[in-house]
Formats: sequence, structure tokens, C-alpha cells
Amino acid sequence: MADKIAIVTGAARGIGLATTRLLLRDGFRVAMLDIDAEELHARAEGLSGVRAYPCDVSDPGSVTATFAAVAADMGGIDALVNNAGIADFGPIEETDFTRWRRVMDTNLDGVFLCSQAATPALIARRGVIVNIASISGLRASTLRVAYGTSKAAVIHLTKQQAVELGEYGVRANCVCPGPVRTKLAMAVHSQEIIDAYHDAIPLNRYGSEEEIGEVIAFLCSARASYVTGQIVASDGGFESTGVGLPALRK
Ligand SMILES: NC(=O)c1ccc[n+]([C@@H]2O[C@H](COP(=O)([O-])OP(=O)(O)OC[C@H]3O[C@@H](n4cnc5c(N)ncnc54)[C@H](O)[C@@H]3O)[C@@H](O)[C@H]2O)c1
Repeated sequence: MADKIAIVTGAARGIGLATTRLLLRDGFRVAMLDIDAEELHARAEGLSGVRAYPCDVSDPGSVTATFAAVAADMGGIDALVNNAGIADFGPIEETDFTRWRRVMDTNLDGVFLCSQAATPALIARRGVIVNIASISGLRASTLRVAYGTSKAAVIHLTKQQAVELGEYGVRANCVCPGPVRTKLAMAVHSQEIIDAYHDAIPLNRYGSEEEIGEVIAFLCSARASYVTGQIVASDGGFESTGVGLPALRK
């Protein structure tokens, strides 16, 4: 296990940082990628078994250079966790093309670019891709025309990867987190949204970064060796609910 290598994008904080720690626990060495170089280096300094790579996953040149550097420094790739993402919530009538493209650039193009860059190395090691989408990609909601659509596309991209890369022994799965109190979520979750989530989630609370990271770590591990093409919601039951949950609570 000591020479297993994972790449985690958006690793400087939130779900990506928690996932990095769990993959280290599981015996991986981790290449931490993030656009926020300062935060990335600060977080990486406190961890052993990691290397930090400032990278903009939406920029093809940055992705090509970073994956070449990871290959040179660390050898192969056993797991790629496409976690980097941005949230920009707004009504359809206020979502112009610039806003739409900004969300797609990171949330969808970033997953595509990093996966393409990693594919030869993943094939060589029969590795695994874990893409991070969202419950907003499973169920439509207000204010999420760009964000929700980008995440629904990531869900389909995952199935496409599983189907096409399966014959090389490469697995691809997708985790759809429910709400977690990270910087990304707190920037767009008003008190109204927070209250609505509490009402709509059977477990009646937000999740933690670690609870999402544990699902990602499982899918990266050999324990999930016969699991591919799956979309796993780690969401406190949100996706299963219909109408009337708060009214039916005791
Ligand atoms: N927090 C939630 O409630 C929630 C719910 C569903 C899905 N998600 C998804 O989980 C993933 C992680 O989100 P989080 O909540 O930990 O957010 P976060 O903002 O705490 O962390 C995201 C990280 O991605 C980095 N990043 C952003 N754009 C980048 C780019 N172009 N290139 C490289 N790095 C970039 C940021 O600098 C940041 O460190 C995202 O894909 C997000 O959409 C989060």
C-alpha cells in the first residue's frame, strides 16, 4: 500500500482536505491540487505523505503541466478524486453566459480535463476515479441552473467513464454530497436554505466533511473492487424524501 498514489483536487480545505487525511490513513501518498496556492501550502505543511501542486483544474495548460509534474515526482496514479468545485447560486433570469461558463469551467470541464490527463496512468495501474457531484445534480432546486446542471453532467460523465474504461480495469464512481458546512456551502446557504435542508433531510442535519470523505475513501479502496458506474448519495436521506416530511415528524 505504501506506494499507492492519489490525486485530490480542491484539497486545500473542506471535503478535499478531509479526504486527503483519510486517504493518508488508508496508506496512500497524496498529491494535493488547488487553485488557492497559499491555503494549499499552509495545509500541506502539516501533513506527511503529501505534495502540494497549485493548479487551476479549469485551465488545460495548468492541468497538463501539473499532471506531468505529479508523474515525475510521485510515479503513477492509483486514484483520482475530482473534488474541486465552485458554487454560484442565482435565478435563471440572472444567470448570464459568463456566470454559466464560470461554473461549468471548474465543475464540469475541470473533471473532464483532470480525468483525461490521468487516464493513461490510471490504465497502467488499474486505478480508480471518484468524481464529486452533488444532490443538486440528482434533484432540481431553485437558484441552481448552472450548479445543478454542471453536477448532473458530472454524474453522466462518471457513467461514461465507467463504461469506457471498465475494460482496462479502471473503476469510476460518483459521490453526491448533501449539505456540509464548508466555505463553499456557507457562501450560498442563506438561513432559509439551512432551515429548508434541515426539514427535508431525514437525518435532520448537515453532514460533515469526514462523512463524505469516508465514502470517497471506500470507493478508492480495494474494498470497492467490484463497484463501478455508481452514483452514491451521502446526503442523510435527502434524495429518498418526498413531500411532507416535516409535517409527518413526531
Ligand atoms: N459543501 C457542500 O454542501 C457540498 C454539497 C454538495 C457538493 N459539494 C461539492 O463538494 C466539492 C468540495 O466542496 P467543499 O464544500 O469542500 O468546498 P470548499 O470551497 O471548501 O473547497 C473547494 C476547494 O476547491 C478549490 N477550487 C475551486 N476552484 C478550483 C479550480 N478551478 N482549480 C482547483 N481548485 C479549485 C478551492 O480553492 C477550495 O479549496 C465541490 O465539488 C462541491 O460542489 C459540496
